[in-house]
Amino acid sequence: MDLAVVGAGRVGTSLAVLWRRAGHRIVAVAGGAATRGRAARFLPGVPVLDAIGAAKGAEVVVIATPDAAIGSVCQEMATAGALDAANAVVHASGATGLDALAAAAASGAATLSVHPLQTCPTVEAGVERIPGSTFAVTAAAGDDQGFALGERLVEDAAGHPVRIADERKPLYHAAAVFASNCLVTVTALAEELGLAAGIEDPIAAFAPLQEATLANIARVGPAEALTGPAVRGDAITLERNLEALHRYAPDAVRSYVVLADLALELAERSGRVRADRTAVEEVLARWR
Ligand SMILES: NC(=O)c1ccc[n+]([C@@H]2O[C@H](COP(=O)([O-])OP(=O)(O)OC[C@H]3O[C@@H](n4cnc5c(N)ncnc54)[C@H](OP(=O)(O)O)[C@@H]3O)[C@@H](O)[C@H]2O)c1
Repeated sequence: MDLAVVGAGRVGTSLAVLWRRAGHRIVAVAGGAATRGRAARFLPGVPVLDAIGAAKGAEVVVIATPDAAIGSVCQEMATAGALDAANAVVHASGATGLDALAAAAASGAATLSVHPLQTCPTVEAGVERIPGSTFAVTAAAGDDQGFALGERLVEDAAGHPVRIADERKPLYHAAAVFASNCLVTVTALAEELGLAAGIEDPIAAFAPLQEATLANIARVGPAEALTGPAVRGDAITLERNLEALHRYAPDAVRSYVVLADLALELAERSGRVRADRTAVEEVLARWR
């Protein structure tokens, strides 16, 4: 296929590199001031045009700008007559609906999205990590051709497609926030507490524990992988943890209680609370 990538940043360039390897032609890329150098480095020989020029030569136009620019960039290409029924316009955002591509749809183009469930801090990381990653593929309800095109694009980037309905994209994205961003956030809290406890490099100290935990989750699922005081029904340890937090890191008490509540619910749902949960609930209620 002839593809154009508008917004050839980290994700757009990574996808373009992978699609090129799979035999597609990248007819042009577009973006801001830094895009030219990125294209010269990772996509040698691919012309850097403006969005309208890039779209005009392509069957499939992939918009991989920051989320907030998807709608306006799409509108700009549609208004200039660069999109019609021969085009498919695709965005790569996890939280944005197909409504951002409404101007393309009004021009007769097919609209869909392919969102890599992966973190791409650099182009190099994207090219390495995207293969093997799951992608959410979204097209309008009943648009089997749109879904099929998305699945082909994902498979050609060596990803695994999963169909997600447009109205469930924000829910899907919230799930990804829990799986990734929340992990980072609680790790930052663990780092702060580890430092306060006297560990010089808490991130390095906790890494083997975290890696083993993630491996366990992948192997047996979160319910079976859960360990710790809540699942043990260990009210005394919970009380000691909370007293220490109150003394040394009072801002962390609220987070600890919320997460212990969730752990208790998970343990309860999977039938794994080993002791009477009343004692644990009493401790948590006192610190709420
Ligand atoms: N990074 C990730 O981990 C990740 C993962 C999954 C999905 N996504 C999604 O992928 C999309 C792109 O994210 P990214 O992280 O790759 O962004 P990025 O690295 O910031 O790249 C954005 C690209 O868009 C260009 N650009 C910025 N503003 C523009 C505008 N107003 N008009 C035209 N081009 C513009 C930039 O040009 P210059 O660089 O030249 O300024 C750059 O080429 C987003 O929808 C994001 O949600 C990102």
